[in-house]
Amino acid sequence: MTKVVSVVGARPQFVKLAPVAEAMTAAGVDHRIVHSGQHYDQALSQSFFADLAIPAPDVNLGVGSGSHGRQTGAMLAALEDVLAAERPDWTLVYGDTNTTLAAALAAVKIHLPVAHLEAGLRSFNRRMPEEHNRVLTDHAADLLLAPTEVAMAHLAREGLGPVSRLVGDVMTDVAHRVADAVRPGWRETAGPGGRGGRASAGFVATIHRPDNTDRPERLAAILEALAGLPRPVSLAVHPRLAARAAEFGLPLERGSLRPIPPLAYPEMVAAILDAAGVVTDSGGLQKEAYLLGRPCTTVRPETEWVETLADGWNQLAADPAAIAAAATRPWPPGPRSQPYGDGHAAAKVVAALLDG
Ligand code: UD1
Repeated sequence: MTKVVSVVGARPQFVKLAPVAEAMTAAGVDHRIVHSGQHYDQALSQSFFADLAIPAPDVNLGVGSGSHGRQTGAMLAALEDVLAAERPDWTLVYGDTNTTLAAALAAVKIHLPVAHLEAGLRSFNRRMPEEHNRVLTDHAADLLLAPTEVAMAHLAREGLGPVSRLVGDVMTDVAHRVADAVRPGWRETAGPGGRGGRASAGFVATIHRPDNTDRPERLAAILEALAGLPRPVSLAVHPRLAARAAEFGLPLERGSLRPIPPLAYPEMVAAILDAAGVVTDSGGLQKEAYLLGRPCTTVRPETEWVETLADGWNQLAADPAAIAAAATRPWPPGPRSQPYGDGHAAAKVVAALLDG
């Protein structure tokens, strides 16, 4: 029996793990889940396991927060022990977090095969810790499971084509399934006539990237722009945003801004479906908005999910002064294309692992 150890640690990875864990069970794979403990708050961790019916982690390393070097180093040491004991056929790592890089390194150093899910994404922005994590993980891994054609092209350009497989995006699997559960009939509502087009609908926002939160002037300008939007803005507050806003003396409750705690996954999907639009710097939320047919404004100079920009459903607003015009733009007239697969990526992930 093929044995796979999935290593996860941060909120978006639990979302991706949900359909993969289910597909592993369906295929009779001996699947173990190792949680690094990078995210540990109930709202950022356990709630995802409960809401998405993910089996409880077999191991939780409880590494917690720290500087990049300390956090990644602590995970590397702890994961080496776990992987040496488990000796899986595949160590499966997800996305671009410090947990991903630590697990990939721990496995290859003891000659265990590594598969990278969500391989080939590139922002080409080397200020982002995620960019180092994903590039280094791609080049360490033995099997690269790419979500899109664009990701496949990046991998081919870096000489990694022979070990790359296009499987689609597992977030599509889970976003569509949860949307079906929380808002049946949602597929008919994308477009200005849908729920989100109601004059009363507000925006959903998240801001958590260090580049946006860690400089007082920039964070102040972003909050000012959100507070000035013409409809209510539900701002789901990541712990870093709460800490920096308090440190810089920037109130989160003002103007249109309505700060709320981080949302559980089904609540976030429902909030997106009920919204006039999304304003975010999160990769996952940009893509969820696209998959669910709501316009997104991305508060970053670039995105690794370039497909979302193609038909106007996502728009970059690197300058906070550009947020208002972008967020209130008319909804794109055309339908969205389907660059992220058909919602059956997790089964293809498992098939690729069993093949490999
Ligand atoms: C991590 C990922 C990022 C992803 C995000 C999803 C890296 C480099 N970044 O960023 O790609 O978009 O997860 O949310 O891996 N904290 C808590 N409770 C927790 C966890 C963290 O309060 O459960 C606080 C701590 O003060 C911590 C800070 O949040 O220092 C940041 O957490 P960290 O794990 O460093 O990364 P994220 O910013 O969440």
